[in-house]
Amino acid sequence: AARPQHPADPKYYEALNWIKERVSSRPKIGVVCGSGLGKFADTLEDVTSFDYKDIPHFPVSTVEGHKGCLVFGKLNGKELVCMQGRFHLYEGYEASACAFPIRLFKLLGVEKLALTNAAGGLNQNYKLGDFMLVKDHLNLPALMGLSPTLGVNDLYWGPRFINMHNCYDQELRDLAKKVAAEIGEEKIQEGVYQCQVGPCYETVAEQKLAQAAGVDALGMSTVYEVVAARHCDIKCFAISMITNICNPSYDVVTEVNHEEVIECATTRGDAMVKLISAILDKW
Ligand code: 6GU
Repeated sequence: AARPQHPADPKYYEALNWIKERVSSRPKIGVVCGSGLGKFADTLEDVTSFDYKDIPHFPVSTVEGHKGCLVFGKLNGKELVCMQGRFHLYEGYEASACAFPIRLFKLLGVEKLALTNAAGGLNQNYKLGDFMLVKDHLNLPALMGLSPTLGVNDLYWGPRFINMHNCYDQELRDLAKKVAAEIGEEKIQEGVYQCQVGPCYETVAEQKLAQAAGVDALGMSTVYEVVAARHCDIKCFAISMITNICNPSYDVVTEVNHEEVIECATTRGDAMVKLISAILDKW
């Protein structure tokens, strides 16, 4: 079948037109800022920012400490659009709500997407504050029937069956490694990110299952956006900040502590901004 000229759902164009009336920027680069990593958007120049709640049909963030702004701005003169705050399944959103902003990015002309998140380090070689370049994911929600592309497929966005090969673009990852070396960022890992719905952190048994599957880090985000982005052929790059270390053992009680997570995100936040900025500068 021929690709339709417009999305079947008029909500996307209503949101797009609302934005087009208010900002002239048409960035080719999109950024999704994870929890505690929203500082990046604050470093942009020539900023135009919209509250999610003001954009027609845009989902609204509910989590404390998660901002909800769509930020247009420039990084060294290069136009970007940035989600400051994202949508998680554990908040009660449909997976399709997580896809909405990404599809809006597509309509705006975005070709490449950078995503950040905070994650638990399951790989026992990982240290607190490490940055993990995501090379692959284990999408547990999708394996259990939760996907942003579930239901009638709109061919405007992409094909029914979505190829996940090179999902996290190899060239963008290689470039990130080169840039990290250039700016002297040494705490770089590369690994597999597992997404779980949450809001429970994983049990020891679940950590062991993930380890057996070759997972390096655990989180509750990113993959829905990546699936939506790959569906409409946006290139993806994702980076996790390791904000706690998992200990898959019953002998030592190590609970994930939200304050500790926030503290790590705060102390390594500037390094994350520096790294992401240096990478995007080369895109
Ligand atoms: Cl799902 N698990 C752990 N241990 N830490 C996390 C996480 C999950 N998401 C963010 N940090």
